[in-house]
Amino acid sequence: MYYNGLHFRTIKMESKFNRTLVTAALPYANGPVHIGHLAGCYLPADIYVRYLRSIGTDVKFICGSDEHGVPITIKAKKENTTPQAIVDKYHSIMGNSFKDFGISFDIYSRTSSKIHHQTASDFFKVLYDKNVFTEEITQQYYDETAKQFLADRYIVGTCPKCANTNAYGDQCEKCGSTLNATDLIDPKSTLSGDKPILKETKNWFLPLDKLQPKIKAYIEKHADWKTNVFGQCKSWMDSGDGLQPRAMTRDLDWGVKVPVKDADGKVLYVWFDAPIGYISATKELLPETWENYWKKEDSRLIHFIGKDNIVFHCIIFPAMLMEHGDFILPDNVPANEFLNLEGDKISTSRNWAVWLHEYLTDFEGKQDVLRYTLCSNAPETKDNDFTWKDFQTKNNSELVAIFGNFINRTLVLTHKFYEGKVPEATIYAKEDLLVLEELKNASIKVAKALELFKFREAINEWMNVARIGNKYLAETEPWKLIKVDEIRVKTIMNISLQISCNLAIMAEPFLPFTSKKLFELLNIKPLNWPAASKTDNMVNGHVINKDELLFSKIEDAEIQKQLEKLQQNKLENLANTKPIEIKTETTFDDFSKMDIRTATIIAAEAVPKTDKLLKLLIDTGVDKRVVVSGIAQFFKPENIIGQKVCLLANLAPRKIKGIESQGMILMAENSNGELTFVSPIKNDIENGSVVK
Ligand code: MF3
Ligand code: ZN
Repeated sequence: MYYNGLHFRTIKMESKFNRTLVTAALPYANGPVHIGHLAGCYLPADIYVRYLRSIGTDVKFICGSDEHGVPITIKAKKENTTPQAIVDKYHSIMGNSFKDFGISFDIYSRTSSKIHHQTASDFFKVLYDKNVFTEEITQQYYDETAKQFLADRYIVGTCPKCANTNAYGDQCEKCGSTLNATDLIDPKSTLSGDKPILKETKNWFLPLDKLQPKIKAYIEKHADWKTNVFGQCKSWMDSGDGLQPRAMTRDLDWGVKVPVKDADGKVLYVWFDAPIGYISATKELLPETWENYWKKEDSRLIHFIGKDNIVFHCIIFPAMLMEHGDFILPDNVPANEFLNLEGDKISTSRNWAVWLHEYLTDFEGKQDVLRYTLCSNAPETKDNDFTWKDFQTKNNSELVAIFGNFINRTLVLTHKFYEGKVPEATIYAKEDLLVLEELKNASIKVAKALELFKFREAINEWMNVARIGNKYLAETEPWKLIKVDEIRVKTIMNISLQISCNLAIMAEPFLPFTSKKLFELLNIKPLNWPAASKTDNMVNGHVINKDELLFSKIEDAEIQKQLEKLQQNKLENLANTKPIEIKTETTFDDFSKMDIRTATIIAAEAVPKTDKLLKLLIDTGVDKRVVVSGIAQFFKPENIIGQKVCLLANLAPRKIKGIESQGMILMAENSNGELTFVSPIKNDIENGSVVK
């Protein structure tokens, strides 16, 4: 029944796969690991791989640090050290965190390794020799103060697609578009803050426009991908002008050197070299047999990633692989959406995160509680929120009250009635048979959900088994029945022990530490998935170990402590924010050209189809006029009627979303981008007073 492949694919279709390579996005080695990383990519990948191992698939699990790219060099600059020192530091911190949380990579490699430089360099050379690239001299942004070209995260500006003002030179994280630095509106160097100049340079481009038909055919063959993934891919190809050529080299000095003539001072684009890291890591792991996983048609390649990585894994990397020609293409890319924390976007720079190493000091030995919470609340189909309150509930009301409680009752009663010996089931009543039937089905339900990458459903189906067990005990009441029907109690306890064992088997992918502990309590060697469809794993007369609690309650005070810690971070952030620098000098004459007046907002409404704009009616004391203002994210229309403001009254009128705006309200913006009104302190000063 269980092939060396996937169980349910074999029902739906003859599986053509004999081995599977699972990769998890190589994280940038520029900071420790937080819950967002875990939930988005590493935990689902680990669960999937553990399941595949358990059903007997030939699988390898690949990851490593992404050590090139601008995020690393920016971090080095900030910490006043070298990129190499940064990646050395974080590579080991990250590797340890993954290990601590049971993420069972077969290898955690790194892209600064020699084998990777060689592999990436060779890959580029193959495409170069096949004339895949177009060589182009283009104008690229250059920072005259920092004396370097600005690519990717060295440059920020406004996204031309969604108007996010914090889009990077290679990607807008808000709408997910891939960008070229020259697409940005109002670009600024993140090094000096200056407006960059344009300077000519030569680079090698992957002509995604020409490759589009091939890429499109490939994507369309994969309508079985998660809807968020498939939809994003389709919309990139179908919207606007479709795919655009993309530079695969950069004028930077940290990275894999471009291995061709006339390329001094240039390195491979980090998104060119990083996914090749999957190949180099496989080579490092399996020097003899790595090619089986990358070059054979009966191998299945699966990339687990977060949603900001979709375009690179579904379009650019497959395009590179196709053009190279030696390699198989990704069969699935189960990308997750983002996890927020207490209602706010997780942010390393704002320290708005739960760091794994800190979690471990505060909740020693409770890795599985976090795994459970993150899996059952995974941002699978939409962004999701992690809250400490919810974490506490998952622990107290599910792991302790349902699963832990069932196991504990079963073990305690087995000791009490039978000195720890598994009793024999003799006669099965109808309700016993029903429970056994449900138990058998459970392993299929969980497996099916896992194979479809529905991890929330899978873990819920697993917990349901404990629910079934609890209900069974509550209804049959063996602690009472023991006085009247000893034979029947034996059957009930036998069944409860079978349920416990199957829970241990099926817990392994999700909660590996707990699974191991439970097998120890049951005093048997860990069993693999196929045994979960059986109902006689616990053999008559086998002696189990003394009971111990698998989970313990988490008290309010512990949760409070975590919430306070986050609050503290918020305050520290405010205290640490850099003052916004003073602009260059201006003259009194220039200033006096501006006619600023006190005024009152007398009406306000949202501008339809925008989320930033309000249409305001302003009483200036001289006239009443319409002003369109980008403050909708901070103020509700109904709350600002009657608000005193200062108005730049002689600003040339301009049309915004079809509405003519006659002036501009003055706002104060702090370094977090939060807005507040600039308003006269004396509230009854008449409208039209001159601000000077
Ligand atoms: N370092 C990237 C990130 O954290 C992910 C790289 S995935 C790989 O967003 F494919 F390039 F390896
Ligand atoms: Zn955007």
